[in-house]
Amino acid sequence: MQRRQFVNQLTRGLAALIGAPVIHNKNTTTRDIFIPRDGNSIDERFWSFLREQFPLTRERVYLNTGGLGASPYAVIDAVVSRINELEKISETGHSEQVWSSIKQKIAMLLGCDAEEIAYTRNATEGINIVCNGLPLKRGDEVITTTHEHVGNAVPWLARQKRDGIVIKLFEPSTKSAPENLDRLDRLISKRTRVISVPHATTTTGQVLPVKEIAALAKAKNLWFFIDGAQTAGMLNFNLHEIGCDAYATSGHKWMLGPKGTGLLYVRKDRFDAIQALEVGAYSDKSHDLQTGELTLHSSAQRYEYGTVSTPIFVGLGAAIDFLMEIGMDNVWARDAALSTALLNGLQEIPPVEILSPLNQTERSAMITFKMKNIEYLKLQSFLAEKHKLRTRGVGEGGVNALRISWHVYNSFEEVNRVLEGVKEAAKL
Ligand SMILES: Cc1ncc(COP(=O)(O)O)c(C=O)c1O
Repeated sequence: MQRRQFVNQLTRGLAALIGAPVIHNKNTTTRDIFIPRDGNSIDERFWSFLREQFPLTRERVYLNTGGLGASPYAVIDAVVSRINELEKISETGHSEQVWSSIKQKIAMLLGCDAEEIAYTRNATEGINIVCNGLPLKRGDEVITTTHEHVGNAVPWLARQKRDGIVIKLFEPSTKSAPENLDRLDRLISKRTRVISVPHATTTTGQVLPVKEIAALAKAKNLWFFIDGAQTAGMLNFNLHEIGCDAYATSGHKWMLGPKGTGLLYVRKDRFDAIQALEVGAYSDKSHDLQTGELTLHSSAQRYEYGTVSTPIFVGLGAAIDFLMEIGMDNVWARDAALSTALLNGLQEIPPVEILSPLNQTERSAMITFKMKNIEYLKLQSFLAEKHKLRTRGVGEGGVNALRISWHVYNSFEEVNRVLEGVKEAAKL
């Protein structure tokens, strides 16, 4: 199904649900039709209609968007039809127009300028570009957390081994944002150069106070990089308002894009400071081997190089259209409602210990918990085998718990299925 067909079908479906004709035009999004903020019946019919847009099997409940997001037909069809077109002529399909039109959409989603975006294969590639491109010397210090995903741990560790930088860690407190700022601030020394933290941790889904951290970094003249793998496509935010120097994310998690897509944002006044180390075709504006002249692209495109799959980035554009059609406020309201329902239910089950923040403003759509009576990997297997629930075990940071992610294709019925499974596990 083409994206336009989806949009039309979505709109027709909504019209049928609310019993009124809805004429779709560019200025009318689903957000204007109704705001799905709670679990009333119209909302649920909207979300179950939306669920139909995903080929995702119903044979198991998918609760690992933090690992990988499912793509809707609109995205799959956009990729397949572009592959079919391009394979007939054996061309890359790369053009300035295609590249920048998708970046315009990304800029709208992330609250930045199109020229500040580079395409990558995943969040980790963006992290590597920043980590390796920053001008760091032996003894320079980088602050991060004890709860890092391997993607924001290994690049810094490799740089520590190679160049002798020093990594300093703070344990994120799930109790309060000010406490985290304090812990971070206490690690800053004369040798600190970089703060590199996740927007939302992979472990407990805790949303860190990135705006405040950006202000602190600015006041102390430090680089501030955000690992945003867990927030683009889930939270509604604006990178310019946050004020970080760089941000990397995955296209294949909450954004619902094709696998093997990622994005790197670099603030435009930082292009020269974060050196593009891996370069080639498309990185340059001009070059001349004879004269030795090399001028890198004036935008973040300087971080891209060589042939990449145009169809998957066209698919990422379709994924953004899909999210925008729902409206990012609605996406987050839905994700928050489902994850809060799970959290509330889990609090009623005695052996459960919740590790995610109880404070809504610090919580994302990932809820992490463990049980006193059963080890987390055993619990994960029990829920998978007995209840057909796909969850994610979290060993990072010694958390040893289970993480459950909630996104637009999930439902309150699935929240109840998880709670039933956990109640049964409580009796083991
Ligand atoms: C916080 C965080 N950073 C980085 C990554 C790596 O993402 P990717 O596989 O797109 O490189 C993940 C993946 O789960 C993550 O949770």
